[in-house]
Amino acid sequence: MISTFLSALMLFQQAPKQGVDWDKEFGVEERVRDPETGEFPVDPYDQDNANAGAQPFEGERLAEAFGGREGIQRIAERTVELSEADPRIADIFVAHDMVRLKRTLGEQFCYLLNAGCDYSGRDMRTAHAGMGVKKADLNALVENLQLAMGEADVPFAAQNKLLSKLAPMSRDVIER
Ligand code: HEM
Repeated sequence: MISTFLSALMLFQQAPKQGVDWDKEFGVEERVRDPETGEFPVDPYDQDNANAGAQPFEGERLAEAFGGREGIQRIAERTVELSEADPRIADIFVAHDMVRLKRTLGEQFCYLLNAGCDYSGRDMRTAHAGMGVKKADLNALVENLQLAMGEADVPFAAQNKLLSKLAPMSRDVIER
């Protein structure tokens, strides 16, 4: 009885349609990188240094300890590269735009370290919404940042100053 029913079902089952644009069918939009910046577009938001999540340090000594604007940008990029290659957290980064992240993370560090940048990215809550970041993921990212700062010979006292600025942002990044 059941087998007769199943055979009847199989008879009526249609072959998949040929030449269907499945992306269109399911509303999948093709993302195109900006030819100038190499970045994917993001949903509109108000740009404001307040999105960086903290006030910058005063004075120039800290920025100097990080090797100035260029040194800071290199450390941000290295942190992203180490994180993309880190099996503990690589999965979180894979679907996101690393070209943009390298730029905006560099801007955030540069702004906070008072090295003469504005931050043009999103606020921390918006940027990490729905990512499912856990405390262990944050610890892994911080380790990668420490590694990047160490490679760049940033003195420990200066490293800890940046970390202390970033630490309170964890409540907007971690999902509970
Ligand atoms: C306090 C710690 C953190 C800070 C200060 C921070 C900072 C930032 C900044 C500045 C952006 C760029 C926002 C934009 O481009 O508009 C960003 C995006 C991102 N962050 Fe974080 N982050 C933190 C923790 C983490 C952790 C722990 C992870 C994962 C392990 C993570 C993964 C990402 C990813 C994948 C993006 C790209 C989002 C997108 O483009 O859609 N972040 N973060």
